[in-house]
Parts: sequence; C-alpha cells; structure tokens
Amino acid sequence: MTDIEFKQKLENYQTRINECLSTILGKPLEKSESATEAAYYSLECGGKRIRPLLVLEFAYICGVPEEKVWDYLPIACTTELIHTYSLIHDDLPCMDNDDFRRGKLSCHKQYGEDIALLAGDALNTKAFEIISNEAINNVVSFETACRLINILSSAAGFKGMVGGQVIDLQSEGRQIDIDTLTLLQSGKTGAMITAACLMGCAIAGEYNSRIYADAAHYSALLGRTFQIVDDILDVTGDFESLGKPIGSDAQQGKSTFVSLLGLEGAKEQAENLTNQSLAMLENFKNNEFIKMLTQKLLNRSY
Ligand code: IPE
Ligand code: IPE
Ligand code: MG
Ligand code: MG
Ligand code: MG
Repeated sequence: MTDIEFKQKLENYQTRINECLSTILGKPLEKSESATEAAYYSLECGGKRIRPLLVLEFAYICGVPEEKVWDYLPIACTTELIHTYSLIHDDLPCMDNDDFRRGKLSCHKQYGEDIALLAGDALNTKAFEIISNEAINNVVSFETACRLINILSSAAGFKGMVGGQVIDLQSEGRQIDIDTLTLLQSGKTGAMITAACLMGCAIAGEYNSRIYADAAHYSALLGRTFQIVDDILDVTGDFESLGKPIGSDAQQGKSTFVSLLGLEGAKEQAENLTNQSLAMLENFKNNEFIKMLTQKLLNRSY
C-alpha cells in the first residue's frame, strides 16, 4: 500500500465516520435541547476517530467484505460516543480541569458543568441504544449485539475506562510505580481501544477464537503505545496541532510515562511496543492498512 492509498483510505474512514456522527443523536428535543447540542458540539471536529476506525478495520481484516463493512458504521460510532463522553468528563474541573478540547472550549466551558455532565451521560447510554437498535433492525443478530454490548460496556466500566480514570485521579500528586501506571493506562485508554478491535472481530463472527486472542493482544500493545504518545505530546506537542492544552499532566501532578521513564525512555518504549504490535499483525490477512496505521500512530503529532 502506498502512502497515498493509505491516506485515501484513512480520509474515507474519517469522512464517513464524521457523516454518521453528525446525525447519530437525532434532532434535539425542544425542551432538552442543550444536552444534545452540547453532545454534538463535543462530537464535532478534530477527533482522530481511531476507535470507530478500528472497529471497521478489524471487521474487514477478520473477513467482512470491504463494501459490507459500511453496514456497521453506526455500531462502530458507538465507541466514539463513549470516548467523547469520557473526554467531556475528563476535562471537568473535578477531573483534569482542562479548558480546551479538539481545538475548542471544553464542553463545560461552553455549556456549563451541569449540561456537560448530562451530555456525557446521554452519550454513554446512546451507544447501547444504537447497538440494540441494529439488532432489532436485523443489521446484526441478537447474539452479536449482545456480545458487542458486553465488550463495550465492560470496557467502559469499573474494570475498564472508569477504573483507569479512578486510579489516575487517586495518583495525582503522588509518585506511582510503573506497574500501577501500566494498570492505570490499560484501564483509562487501553480498554476502549481493545473494545474497538474486539467489536470488529465480533461483527465478523470471531469470538473466543485464536484471531480474537491475537486482536486482544495487538490492541493491548497499541493502547499502551497510544497513551505513551499522548503523555509525550503533553510535553512536546503544540496547542495548534493537538487542540488541547500542553503541560496539563504536570500541572495536575499526574504520573505519566514521561514523568516515570523520561522523554527518551518513553519514546523508546513506544517504539518497542510498536514493533511488537506490528509482529502481531502478521497473523492477520489484508493487514497493509492496519500496519501503516500502527506505525503512523507512533509518530503522530496530534
Ligand atoms: C485522547 O484520545 C485521550 C486518550 C485516551 C489518550 P484521542 O487522542 O483519541 O483523542 P481524539 O478523539 O483524537 O480527540
Ligand atoms: C484520558 O486520559 C483518558 C480518558 C478520557 C478516558 P488523559 O487525561 O491523558 O487524556 P487527555 O490528554 O486529556 O486527552
Ligand atoms: Mg485524564
Ligand atoms: Mg485529560
Ligand atoms: Mg493526556
């Protein structure tokens, strides 16, 4: 796959995901329009859309034909709904207290903390409404929908994203060891990235198979790299490209891969993990795009 072919496929994914997201919540109800409006505000623009893209690409590399993959666009986008809810809550003053996200004012800065909180809550439940609807409308079987809901809800919950965020908050202002940081990361970031890959497998009918285990292994490596790069960019990035404040981690007294390993150590670890991820991808067919994506995510600047 050439660089241009990669770029075209990436942009096609992002465009179609953005189109789907732009109507996915329906129209605002007259009397509760601010929560829907706030959710659309945070969903729009600037997100890389990595999680829905992983759902669709894993469906494809696990055997769903290329054109048929688009049938699962709304299901893929449910990962972006949960992710966006997690970002809205992550930016709140009681959490990371960040004023900017995706190049715009954070949701609570624009709509107030109360509406931001509720917009996040409703994005969370909307994800599961959509997956169940896709079973009712015969896009996926009830069994597949149940598996998808199981994967997504557990990844978002106590032992996943929320669990990781709790450790993150409890670790503020304290020195933690690398094992605790790895556990924190595997919850707050890794779980949703793994869920995206596994949802793609489940859509393709792969469940508890070897390929499913390989996808879980790959995604754990990718998730760790993703958070290490996020931590690096919090130090070396620029606001223009990232769309969120730089230096937020240090300001909040967070332990990060950079604060524990140093900048060079963090970069080295991200490179090692990427090499391991690429090796795992050899177990998949049609892996050209996902391999290039894995490599580019290591060197991303936003
Ligand atoms: C940021 O996620 C928060 C983390 C889990 C590290 P992304 O880097 O995927 O943010 P967007 O979706 O592109 O804005
Ligand atoms: C947030 O991690 C992860 C989730 C939102 C679950 P960070 O706090 O590092 O994410 P950014 O840097 O604010 O995007
Ligand atoms: Mg945070
Ligand atoms: Mg944050
Ligand atoms: Mg961060």
